[in-house]
Amino acid sequence: MYMHNRIGAQTKRARVGGALMALALAAGASTVAAQQGGAREYVPFDDIDPTLGHLADMEFSGTVRYWKDEETLRQHLSWVGDPENEWKLNYKHRDLEYDELHGGHFYLEEGEAAFRELSERHPGFAGCIGWGEADLVGAATRYPRYDPETNAIWTLEGRIEHCAKAIAGQELPQGSPGNTRLSLYVKSLSHGMPIDMDIGQPALRIAYERGKGLFYMKAGQFNFACATCHSPKTPVMGRRLRGQMSTTPFAFAAHFPTYRSARGTVETLQERIGLCSRQMRVTPLRPGDPAYVDLEVFLTALSNGYPIVSPGVR
Ligand code: HEC
Repeated sequence: MYMHNRIGAQTKRARVGGALMALALAAGASTVAAQQGGAREYVPFDDIDPTLGHLADMEFSGTVRYWKDEETLRQHLSWVGDPENEWKLNYKHRDLEYDELHGGHFYLEEGEAAFRELSERHPGFAGCIGWGEADLVGAATRYPRYDPETNAIWTLEGRIEHCAKAIAGQELPQGSPGNTRLSLYVKSLSHGMPIDMDIGQPALRIAYERGKGLFYMKAGQFNFACATCHSPKTPVMGRRLRGQMSTTPFAFAAHFPTYRSARGTVETLQERIGLCSRQMRVTPLRPGDPAYVDLEVFLTALSNGYPIVSPGVR
């Protein structure tokens, strides 16, 4: 079950653009609504062209022009600490810290050692992650990916869980430190390479539409949607919330798993989604839940073309 809406009884329907969107919502949201006994309410949808990847932000918040690459970021570093302007950097200035020593590097070292040990004992492990390619340089850029044989969408963490079990008989559930460490290591092998999820693939495209539906769906005690804080159509984006500024969802997926300096731990994208759900007073789901996979596909499409940063820090 995705989100708890204790307010309920709202009947206003979403205005949905495009048949695909309507289909995907009917498939995704109707099960949620059926489970919870009420129609869902949405904040206004943004018109996003998912084939444009992170550059679709041009028509969204327009801030991509300030964070699109390292040089541009450096030109705007004086905005750091300036409450009027810092949000326009979309926290990307912190990507510049990836090669400074932070906790993520220790985690990465442990991940590399664990990966070597696992693939020495079980030579098929790397090939399972790389879909037949044992050389994993660039592999992370193509996740989440669709597998026609299993008719399933695999996130990197989901694939690690699956391959550890299938090849090595090891339990490495998504969200566990053992899984996240390996994910961070595999992701680091693609550092600097643009994200390239195949949004032209029909199953991924449908998952994207479902994920988008969830992103704009109101839920929880406050009746917030993800978009309430992360879309410029609503008044929160760019404003401070308990000392934090919330930002545009474009290129969110690039730096996960991320070392969170405030918490002293590494978190995956889906764990972060869970933390934001808590802020909405919505019970978080377990990593790997289909709703979180859909949200990850949605957010990764919005990150396409943006280079991976690993180990990232926030
Ligand atoms: C109450 C406001 C609020 C809501 C609602 C909210 N978020 Fe967030 N979110 C934040 C803040 C604040 C941050 C930290 C600053 C930032 O990175 O934007 C954040 C960060 C994130 C990040 C990490 C961004 C990064 O670059 O590290 C992701 C991913 C994210 N949110 C996804 C979601 C999703 C998905 C939902 C809906 C389930 C959601 N958020 C709902 C406020 C919110």
